[in-house]
Amino acid sequence: MSVPHFRSSDASASSPITFQILQQKKQAGHPIVALTAYDYATARLVDEAGVDLILVGDSLAQVVLGYDSTLPVTVDEMLHHTRAVRRAVRRALVAADMPWGSYHLTVEDALANAVRFIKEAGAQAVKIEGGVARAELVERLTAAEIPVIGHLGLTPQSIHRMGGYKVQGKTPAAIGALLHDAHTLEAAGAAALVLEGMPRETAARITAEVGIPTIGIGAGPDCDGQILVFHDLVNLSFSPPAKFVRRYGDAAALFRSAVETYRRDVEARAFPADAESYHLSSEVAASLADPEN
Ligand code: KIV
Repeated sequence: MSVPHFRSSDASASSPITFQILQQKKQAGHPIVALTAYDYATARLVDEAGVDLILVGDSLAQVVLGYDSTLPVTVDEMLHHTRAVRRAVRRALVAADMPWGSYHLTVEDALANAVRFIKEAGAQAVKIEGGVARAELVERLTAAEIPVIGHLGLTPQSIHRMGGYKVQGKTPAAIGALLHDAHTLEAAGAAALVLEGMPRETAARITAEVGIPTIGIGAGPDCDGQILVFHDLVNLSFSPPAKFVRRYGDAAALFRSAVETYRRDVEARAFPADAESYHLSSEVAASLADPEN
């Protein structure tokens, strides 16, 4: 198979990413690059860097809004951030997380909420957490032309049921249940699966068994792609990194030093300089200086 558009680093040379392209990447063994983004500036950077899939994750509840879990974030807040990301992105596929409570009541209610992400915010897909319990919803969303990304393993919206953020899929029974979840979601029409917080071996087995792409986070290197939270990648999340996080930059240090230097400059009257100031024209300045005026 010819895969000329698959170099994620060569963003300008490739056309907009679709689920068909992600599927071809899986088949060709080309890793899918995914990352979260939550606003215009970071989404532009992420898109221009050639990331394939941008997720407006409900992790924004913690890293952007300062909540201590993902549970409080609302549909309206998620829509607000998804719109900003959508305005920035030219190439990547944009998916939005449906927040907790927005798809847990009735299927009709969930459909109506999902439609808002596509119609009002321009998302191209929604992500929902959970396995077999979501099969009917995945089927209905897919029938309504809304691509769905499933999310299995450590699902942060289940924090109270799980009793904390704990690695899942560690026993034969748990692995069997996850495989059943994955196959059921695929059969229901899911376009891809996020696999979070599970042993490498478990994720590898799911990835080998399902036909749709798997995107791992804390699930080892054998998934079809990887995703991280943007703020973790650049050290802006103000919490000790989880084992699976690799920091590729230190935005906190960069921003802190820039802001502290700015503060010192203002206090020392070193900012702004004359070159950073606007001036009257020489005629107006002269006329103001003339005591006759
Ligand atoms: O909300 C989120 O950031 C996620 C992860 C999979 C990245 O769901």
